[in-house]
Amino acid sequence: MNVLILGSGGREHAMAWKVSKSSQLGDLYIAPGNAGSKEVGENVDLDINNFSQIAEFSIDKKIDILVVGPEGPLVNGIHDYFDSREDLKGVTVIGPHKEAAQLEGSKDFSKKFMKRHNIPTAKYSSFTKANIKDGYGYLEMMKPPYVLKVDGLAAGKGVVILNDLDAAKKELKSMLIGSKFGKAGKTVVIEQFLDGKEVSVFVITDGTAYKILPEAKDYKRIGAGDVGLNTGGMGAVSPVSFANREFIDKVDNQVIIPTIKGLRKEGIHYTGFIFFGIINVKNDPYVIEYNCRMGDPETEVVMPRIKSDLLELFDGMATGTLSERHVEIDPRSAATIMMVSGGYPESYEKGKKISGLEKVEDSIIFHAGTKETEAGIETNGGRVLAVTSYGRNLEKALKSSYDQIEKIDFEGKYFRKDIGYDVLQPVEKKKK
Ligand code: AMP
Ligand code: GLY
Repeated sequence: MNVLILGSGGREHAMAWKVSKSSQLGDLYIAPGNAGSKEVGENVDLDINNFSQIAEFSIDKKIDILVVGPEGPLVNGIHDYFDSREDLKGVTVIGPHKEAAQLEGSKDFSKKFMKRHNIPTAKYSSFTKANIKDGYGYLEMMKPPYVLKVDGLAAGKGVVILNDLDAAKKELKSMLIGSKFGKAGKTVVIEQFLDGKEVSVFVITDGTAYKILPEAKDYKRIGAGDVGLNTGGMGAVSPVSFANREFIDKVDNQVIIPTIKGLRKEGIHYTGFIFFGIINVKNDPYVIEYNCRMGDPETEVVMPRIKSDLLELFDGMATGTLSERHVEIDPRSAATIMMVSGGYPESYEKGKKISGLEKVEDSIIFHAGTKETEAGIETNGGRVLAVTSYGRNLEKALKSSYDQIEKIDFEGKYFRKDIGYDVLQPVEKKKK
C-alpha cells in the first residue's frame, strides 16, 4: 500500500514512524513533513490545503491511503473533494467528511449533537450578536468560573475561562461584537464549568465498527504545575491511571457507542480517528470536546503503544472490515516530553542548531518543528522535539525521557520537568 500523510508535526512523524514498520507498506510520503519524517519516508512539498495539488500527486504516485493529520483540511472538505472525483476513487481518506468534521469545527454543532444523543457534557447555551443580552443574562445565572467558547476553529485559543462576571461579560462582548476571533467567534457557547481530571480517548472507526486506542493525558500549559499560557502540548503519558478499565467502560457505553450510533443515525459515514476530550468528574465521564483527528502530543505516546500493524487497521477502515481486525496494545507505559523554543508560546526564534540527537539511546525522537539545512538539523517551530520512551511503568518511561533529553541541546531549549508526575501510581511515587 502506498501512503501519503498530511502534516508536519510530531503527530505526523509518529504516524509515519508507525506506518513505516508495516509489512504492507509500499511507498510512504509525508507532506510537507519535517527533518524527522524524512528518515522514515519521503517528504514532499505539497500545500495541505491545496486539494487539487494533493489529488494530482496521489494519482501520480498511486496512493492508496491518505492520512490527514491536522483538522484544517478535514474541516475544509478534503474527504468530500476526493469523493467527488472519479479518478480518486481508489484512495481511502483517513479522516471524516466536512459535515462530520463539524464535531471539531463547530462547538455549537458538537454540543447540539451531544444533546440529541444524550451524551454527557456540560450544560450550555449558544449566543450571537443578535441575542448578546440573553448571553449576559445567562452568565448572571451561572456560577463562576465562566466558560466561553467560540464556535469555530481558533488554533486552540478559542476557550476562555474567567472567574469574574464582569470580565466574562466583557469577553463575550469582544468575541461577539469586537470580532476578537473573527468569523470563528460569530457564535459563542457558554457552558457550565466542570471540575475534574482530563484524559484523551481515541478510537478509529470505519463508520460501523470501532476500536479503542490507548488513552493519554496531555499537558497544555507552558509552566510546571499547569500554570501559564496554553500551548500546543508540552508532553503526554499513556496509560492514564485514573482512566482505569471501569472508567474507560463508562466512556465506551456513555460516550463512544452513542457517538458512533448517533453519526450513523444521522446518515453520516465517518471513517477516521475520533478524539474524545473527556473530563472525569467524580468517576463519571463528560465530553469537553470532540476532535476529528489524533491529538498532538498524545499521538507520540499512542502510536508507540499500538503493537498491531497500523496499515492493517487502515485497510479495515478502507474495506469496512475493521470489526475483523484486532488492536493489540503494548502493556508498557510510554511518556513523551516536548522540547520547545525559548519564548514559546509567545514569540520565539527559529533556525537554532540542534546538537546531540545522535547520542540519544532508548528513546524515540519525534520531530515537531525541525528542518534540515546544509548546516544540519535546526529548530523550525515553537514545539521542536518530542522525546518518547517506554518503561515497565510510567515512572521508568519518564526517567528515560528525562535522561535522554539532557543529551540534546539548542539555544533557548525549554521543557516541563513535571510531566506525568500527577498521575504516577502511589506505588510508583513511593519508589521515587
Ligand atoms: P478545548 O479547546 O475545548 O479543548 O478547551 C480547552 C481547555 O479548556 C480544555 O482542555 C479544558 O481544560 C478547558 N475546558 C473546556 N471546557 C471546560 C469546561 N466546561 N469545564 C472546565 N474546563 C473546561
Ligand atoms: N493535545 C490536544 C490536541 O491535539 O488538541
